[in-house]
Amino acid sequence: MLTCIERVLSKEEVGQFRSQLSRADWQDGRSTAGSLAKTAKHNQQLADGSALAQQLGQLILRKLGQHPLFISAALPSKIYPPKFNRYADGGNYGTHVDSALMQLPDSQAVLRSDLSVTLFLAEPEEYEGGELEIEGAFGAQAVKLEAGDLVLYPSSSLHRVAPVTAGARIASFFWIESLVADEAQRSLLFDLDQTIQRLTPALPAGQAELLRLTGIYHNLLRLWARP
Ligand code: NI
Repeated sequence: MLTCIERVLSKEEVGQFRSQLSRADWQDGRSTAGSLAKTAKHNQQLADGSALAQQLGQLILRKLGQHPLFISAALPSKIYPPKFNRYADGGNYGTHVDSALMQLPDSQAVLRSDLSVTLFLAEPEEYEGGELEIEGAFGAQAVKLEAGDLVLYPSSSLHRVAPVTAGARIASFFWIESLVADEAQRSLLFDLDQTIQRLTPALPAGQAELLRLTGIYHNLLRLWARP
């Protein structure tokens, strides 16, 4: 399942991010790729430990922590500190699967990547190409969102970034370990939660069936969540 979430950052916040990133020290992305990904990856990244990456990453995490749709869709247990990349001059990332296990920076903890996230920081009109192409049961889907919007997709999927043939594609990307590892279970919970959210304003508070649906949501979460 792909989930797009709009306006995680306002246009004003995107502007602030972009002005800081325009002065950033971008490095060859291959230096941080795993051995398999090295030959496929042609882009630039901010150094992970850099003050700017940390500062902007924390702003993103703070926004997401208050975002009901993001929490409902991801049910996050751990989030990798957001990274930043830039594709220009034909830059691309060939078809790959993200590593399953990742050591969290400055920690002994390991994150299992259940969901991958791309937060777009450039408007679609600013660059040619650069679609995030994600393979799924119904074929490949090309994703190119407005600046400030993000897409959540299964880390297990084959995906790639199409060559950027004009302009520059700037984005943040990171991974999530979900409380619910199983994609199908997580999708059902999301669907049920969103249905309850939509029914709630239409029904009197404390309505019996709504209470039961809410109970079912929590009892499924109790069965499936592994904190
Ligand atoms: Ni990837």
